[in-house]
Formats: sequence, C-alpha cells, structure tokens
Amino acid sequence: MTIAYAPGKIILFGEHAVVYGRPAIAVPVTQVQARAEVTPSAGGVIIEAPDLGRQHNLADAPPDDPLALTVRNTLAHLRVGMMHDLRITVSSTIPLARGLGSGAAVSTAIVRALAGHFGRELPPAEVSALVFQTEVLHHGTPSGIDNTVVAFGQPVYFIKGRPIERFAVGAPLRLVIGDTGLVSPTKVTVGDVRRSWQSDPATYEARFDAISDVVMRARRAIEAGDLPAVGRLMDQNQVHLRELGVSSPELERLIQAARHAGALGAKLSGGGRGGSMIALITPQTEQAVVTALREAGATKVIVTEVSPDAL
Ligand code: PMV
Repeated sequence: MTIAYAPGKIILFGEHAVVYGRPAIAVPVTQVQARAEVTPSAGGVIIEAPDLGRQHNLADAPPDDPLALTVRNTLAHLRVGMMHDLRITVSSTIPLARGLGSGAAVSTAIVRALAGHFGRELPPAEVSALVFQTEVLHHGTPSGIDNTVVAFGQPVYFIKGRPIERFAVGAPLRLVIGDTGLVSPTKVTVGDVRRSWQSDPATYEARFDAISDVVMRARRAIEAGDLPAVGRLMDQNQVHLRELGVSSPELERLIQAARHAGALGAKLSGGGRGGSMIALITPQTEQAVVTALREAGATKVIVTEVSPDAL
C-alpha cells in the first residue's frame, strides 16, 4: 500500500491579478491535508472518494472527471500504461471550493501516491506540471499558483510561467483563516473578472498594477519581519479585491470582525465571493480574533503559522 499527502494553501497577496501576469505570494497550510492511498486490487483501476460519494473505474470514468484525469495523466507521465489492477482511495480535510486549494491538494496526493506505487519519486516541478493539467479543468484559466505552492510545499513568490522564487520570512506570520461556509467555485469569479477586464481593460489593468505594487511591498515587509506593514498591505489588497468585485457581505463581515478584534490586517484569500478570509494576528490577539470570527459566523477557523525556517 502506498499513501501520500498534500497540504492546503492560502494566498497571502495577489490573487486574481496573478492570472494576468502579476506576482502573488502563497503559503502551504499543513493543518489541513488531502490523502491518497493506492492498494493492489482487482478489476482495473478503481478511483474512489468516499467523502464525495464518488467511485469510478478508470476505463469508463467521464472525460471531465478531475480525479480520473489526474490518474490518466500520471500513468502516462510514468509511462506504465493504463491497464492495472489497483484501487486509489482519496480523502481530504480541506473544505471544497473555499480558496484553500483542495483541488490541487487532492491531485498532488494522487500523483505522489501513484508515483510511489510504481517505485518513483517525482520532483516537485513535475508533480506541479501534472497537477496544473487538472487545475485547467477546475479553474478554466488558472495561473498555476495553487499547484505550485501545494506541490512544492513551501512559501512562494509566484509569477505565471516563471520558475518559483523563494523568499525569507523575517518574523513568524501567524494567520487565522475564517471560512464563510459558502462554496464559491474559482472558475466563476475568475470568469467574471475576465469579462469585466474585457469590457474595461484600462481600469482593470490599473487595478492589477496596484495589486502588483502591494505584493512587491508585501514581500519586502515579510522579509523585514515588519508585521504591522504586512497587515496594512493586506488591508490595501482587500480594497483592490473589493474593486475587482470578488468580495461579498459574508467575507466583509468576517474581515471587519477580525480587524475590530485586533488583527493587524485582513483580506479574502483565493477566488473570493465566498470561501475563506485570512487575518494576520499575534499571540496576544489570537484568542480574541478566533472568538470574533466564530461569533461573526465563520463555519471553520484555522490558525496557521509561516515560520522563518519554513524554507
Ligand atoms: O483556488 P483559489 O480559490 O484559492 O484561487 C486561486 C487564485 C486565483 O488567482 C483567483 C486564480 C488563479 O488561478 O490564480
């Protein structure tokens, strides 16, 4: 039996603008995980996701099934053919469609478990490229940030089409993630932003440039360990995300609650509309912010930390 895991992720800065070639910063979240298990079996390649109530035989899985697509692409990449007798069981503690990268994590776990089953260990760049092919199905026009941060399992400064850049973390970034509980497919918000950009390119390009400026300043603030500056830049990023039309009353309520409870800054994370928000906290404000988020309706609250030795 081979078992592999992959973490969730959050985008600290730069979502949406990253689809248009601007930089973004993302970090893995190891408190939530996807898991894939490969066991010898009979009757072909069986893919099952009991949590999702899904079971397919690879031979007759629908062409647009993301799990089957990942399995096909991985078997092709490993050059081992499609005819096997094995069972792939997938589970995940990452809430679906909430900006936490559940799709990329599930695909990454499958790629790693299958590679392990065939006695191979793929480098992160190869895992990331395989997962990207499934992300296209989930997201339409993904930037590639989700598969990159999940497959590398490290904080990344990401620009579409370029090799990842690592950066130093000058002081621990303690973050709280608040889940609105609202499912919001990234494909929808990315599509909406694209239509708005097409109808008013000048305004949207200026907004993407403003976000890019925030991301570059945020990288310097993170490297310098200047937490108050990181927090202020999160607030500024949120202003621009609101202008892009990807916030929502539910996200705003959680963001305000976190700020009032003492967070250094807060913003939505990921595709937006629903999904998750993040807030920068300190050990002193942690309890108050967690409580405030729960009282403001967060369905799940996760505390995570990006530490200086995360690289
Ligand atoms: O998968 P999510 O919801 O965390 O969002 C991905 C980030 C976007 O910038 C909105 C899309 C992308 O492909 O980069």
